Amino acid sequence: MNILVTGGAGYIGSHVVKQLLETTSYTIVVLDNLSTGSHQTLDSLGKVRDFKFIELDLKEFDSVNMILKENNIDTILHFAASIVVPESVENPLKYYLNNTVNTTNLINCAVENKVNKFIFSSTAAVYGEPTYLPLNGVDEEFLTKPINPYGMSKLMSEKVLEDTAKACSDFKYIIFRYFNVAGADVNYEDEQLKPRIGQSFPNATHLIKIASECACGKREKMAIFGNDFNTKDGTGVRDYIHVDDLANAHIKAMEYLENNSSDVFNIGYGQGYSVKEVIETMQTVTSVKFTVNSAPRRAGDPAALISDNTKIKTKMNWKPKYNNLELICKSSFEWEKR
Ligand code: UD1
Repeated sequence: MNILVTGGAGYIGSHVVKQLLETTSYTIVVLDNLSTGSHQTLDSLGKVRDFKFIELDLKEFDSVNMILKENNIDTILHFAASIVVPESVENPLKYYLNNTVNTTNLINCAVENKVNKFIFSSTAAVYGEPTYLPLNGVDEEFLTKPINPYGMSKLMSEKVLEDTAKACSDFKYIIFRYFNVAGADVNYEDEQLKPRIGQSFPNATHLIKIASECACGKREKMAIFGNDFNTKDGTGVRDYIHVDDLANAHIKAMEYLENNSSDVFNIGYGQGYSVKEVIETMQTVTSVKFTVNSAPRRAGDPAALISDNTKIKTKMNWKPKYNNLELICKSSFEWEKR
């Protein structure tokens, strides 16, 4: 198989590329504009085994088409996207162009070049701010109602995929709606746990990344956004999933599509931790008691968002290996130190 990975130098894409290089003999072509991805990540991946890298922005439609043709691509894993929620509110067109328009063109090129498998990274942000949280978490049938252009740009891309697959019988897709992805490369051969790749995105807003920066001394302090939510300790509750478990689902998805039809899957552990619990865990595993203040709620933050992951576990037989908040925090911290 010849696989194209867009955004393969980024956080999630690079973990998938790592697993593809380690566990398959497929030919891998990584396409990335290096706006947030890095050469260091590509260098680390190159030590696993050879792959082809093309520096290109997906808005170069003709070049994208040519790349699919010349490399005889049969599967696309599409990660390249803009992902900062507040920025999407300030600059929605960037999100509709980078995410929805570029994805639509990529799908068009895929159909033209008879690429028959397309794996798409979507987000739990498509569910917006649920008015209630079902006992077992949010399942894939839950109302989709994004509350920001980021979530909407992803939901619109989902619709383009669904409609295209309905019209083209040999085009299949898997949509993954990610919950809160965190942690870094678990290096099996090294008991010291030294991640080779991780999240390098500048000015990150994610909780575990920020807590790791505090534990490393890169940041003086952090704040808890809201302590008056209707949750176990008043702080926001989320479903944190280790990036290597998430990456593994993408490898499974390619096998799954051989004998099954297109589908959408939530991906999370189905288990919630509060902001306080996450910060305490980070402080415990690193033995660093950094300063934590209280701050008002962040606009648009739901009290709790937890996945119902029954579908991916039963239909795709996905078996997570790193459902352990300590390991997630520790690997994130070790990466941050590097
Ligand atoms: C994040 C992403 C969203 C993505 C979703 C699912 C942002 C703003 N949101 O959502 O794009 O679709 O994951 O993968 O990038 N918190 C603090 N202090 C901090 C940082 C966060 O208290 O300094 C709290 C938040 O209020 C929230 C929780 O920690 O309750 C998690 O926040 P975050 O890591 O930013 O993720 P989400 O906003 O849930």
